[in-house]
Amino acid sequence: MASTVSLCFFAVNLLLLFVHILGGRDFYKILGVSKNADIKQIKRQYRKLAKEHHPDKNKDDPEAAERFQDLGAAYEVLSDEEKRKVYDRHGEEGLKQGDMGGDPFSSFFGDFGFGFGGNQRDQETPRGGDIVMDLDVTLEELYNGDFVEVLRYKPVAKPAKGKRKCNCRMETVTQQLGPGRFQMSQQQVCDECPNVKFVPEEKMLELEIEPGMRDGQEYPFVAEGEPHLDGEPGDLRFIIRQVKHPRFERKGDDLYANVTVSLQDALIGFEMDIAHLDGHKVHIVRDKITWPGARMRKANEGMPNYENNNFKGSLFITFDIDFPKGSLTEEDKEGLKAILKQDIKQTVYNGL
Ligand SMILES: *[C@@H]1O[C@H](CO)[C@@H](O)[C@H](O)[C@H]1NC(C)=O
Repeated sequence: MASTVSLCFFAVNLLLLFVHILGGRDFYKILGVSKNADIKQIKRQYRKLAKEHHPDKNKDDPEAAERFQDLGAAYEVLSDEEKRKVYDRHGEEGLKQGDMGGDPFSSFFGDFGFGFGGNQRDQETPRGGDIVMDLDVTLEELYNGDFVEVLRYKPVAKPAKGKRKCNCRMETVTQQLGPGRFQMSQQQVCDECPNVKFVPEEKMLELEIEPGMRDGQEYPFVAEGEPHLDGEPGDLRFIIRQVKHPRFERKGDDLYANVTVSLQDALIGFEMDIAHLDGHKVHIVRDKITWPGARMRKANEGMPNYENNNFKGSLFITFDIDFPKGSLTEEDKEGLKAILKQDIKQTVYNGL
C-alpha cells in the first residue's frame, strides 16, 4: 500500500517535472483527482495525502517538504471556487496575476486541529475550559464519509476601554511597624494590562466524518474551546454519536440486518436485493429452505475499517418467516403432507 502510494508520487513528480516546463503545476495530478472532482473529493484526497506526506513523517526524504508545499498549493487553489475557475482557464500563471498569498496549511490544518509535531503545552499557562459536544452522525455518513460544517459562536478577545488587573500572584511583603519590628505578610500583587472584552464571532468549523469512524470517537479542535483571558483557550472536542439506523445495526465493523420472507419463499427459495448505505445493492439468493433465525454472511459488505478503509467487515442477515394466517383445506393439507414428508415429531423443552 505505502509503496504503491510512493510509486504514485514518483509518477506524479515525473509528471510535475514535465508540467513545470510547460509552466505551472498540475494541481489535479498533484492531488490525484479528476478535473471534475467535487469539493468533498478534493478535501478528502488532500487530507489523506497531507497525512501521508507531512514532512514530519518523512524526515529522511529531502523532497518531502517540496511535495508537501505542492500539495498545499494544489489544495488551496482547487478548494476555492474562484481560484479554481481561474486555474482551469489560465493555469497557475493565471493565478499569479492576483495576489494568491496565504498559508494553506494553517487554513486547513489549523481548523482541523491536527497536532503535527510541537504543540507542547506549557503547564504553567492557565487554560480555558474544554468544550465537549456530541455530534450525531448517520450510519450512511460513517460508511461513505462526509464533511460536516458546524457554525460556532466563539468568544474572541477584543481590546476594550480601561485597564484590568492581570498576572496576579502572591508575594511576601515586609512592613516596618516600628524600630526593630517588622511584619511579613502575603499580599496579592497584580500588573495592569489593557482591558479586553469577549465578543462572540461566527466561525465555521469543518469536520470530516471519515469512513469507518466509530461511535464515541473524539474529534478535537485544538484551541477552539473556552478562551482564557490570561492564558490559552481550551479545546473543543466533538464526540461522534452514531444515530440508530432503520435497517442496519452495527457491531464493530460488522453490520446486521433482519429480513422477513414469506413462508412460500422460505420453502421454495428466493432472490432479493438489499439497498446498502451507499445505495449499491447486495444481492441475496437462496434456493434451499430457509428456517426462522437462519443467518447469512456477506463478506466485505460491512462497514469500512477506520484504520484501513480497504478492509470491510461483514454483513449478517438474519431471516424471519412470515407465516400465512387462517387454515388450509383438507385437500391442501394432504398435498402438503405428501410434499414435506416430515416425521411427526414433537419436542417439549424449556427454551433455555
Ligand atoms: C433483528 O431482530 C432481532 C430480534 O427481534 C432484534 O433484536 C435486532 O435488533 C434486529 N436487528 C436489526 C438490525 O433490526
